[in-house]
Amino acid sequence: MKNRKPLLAGNWKMYKTCAEAVDTAKKLAELVTKVQDRDIMIAPPFTALFAVSEVLKNTNISIGSQNIFWEKEGAYTGEVSGQMLVSCGCKYVIIGHSERRQYFHETDETVNKRIKSALLYGLIPVFCVGETEKERESNETFSVLDKQVQNGLKDFTLNDLKTLVIAYEPVWAIGTGKTATSAQAQEVHAFIRSLIEKKFDADLASKMRILYGGSVKPENISELMSMPDVDGGLVGGASLKPETFSKIVTYN
Ligand code: 13P
Repeated sequence: MKNRKPLLAGNWKMYKTCAEAVDTAKKLAELVTKVQDRDIMIAPPFTALFAVSEVLKNTNISIGSQNIFWEKEGAYTGEVSGQMLVSCGCKYVIIGHSERRQYFHETDETVNKRIKSALLYGLIPVFCVGETEKERESNETFSVLDKQVQNGLKDFTLNDLKTLVIAYEPVWAIGTGKTATSAQAQEVHAFIRSLIEKKFDADLASKMRILYGGSVKPENISELMSMPDVDGGLVGGASLKPETFSKIVTYN
């Protein structure tokens, strides 16, 4: 028996207008009302955060954002701060997603600043790591993850990271339909947990939730969740339809 509460999270990426997001959130809430033994989060685009959080008040679904900027306020055209996210009802924030790293020049250093800022505002960071196909093929998976974890969590103390969630998202599995096998996911999750144990301590490592992301579907969630170190899913495409995502949330 795992002692960590599963977290099923939907990353809506750049999909859904405000009205579509509200509609999807309402339908999802109806489908998962009975769920108590797991946490549910959805991360709509910034433009829908407030409206979605209003319709999800008093439900069992929490809201996350897909990014955060580290300054509190200022002349940073186009950026969104932690206090703004909190004011829109956010509880979680996805940080360092591979799409941010790949298309928007996110680095381990900026990821580290964003995690700091999230924690300052009481947001739960969902810190994403993962190797590319080329890195996996050249046997660099563990060294890449080691570097991402060490740099992303640089200068934090044990106490800072009590709420932190890590999401392992192999880049080659995102949006490709190619899911990591449950054995591949387990191997990496156990490695990440061992890194946390070495860098911080065994207690933090045993309590930290490590999610798997990359082509999660209703058909593969149960198998992934049966692995001892897989504590949930960060779901892209399959989180966009309430019927599909609710099946993932209610896996058994
Ligand atoms: P897919 O589930 O569409 O592969 O996306 C995964 C992901 O990037 C979640 O953050």
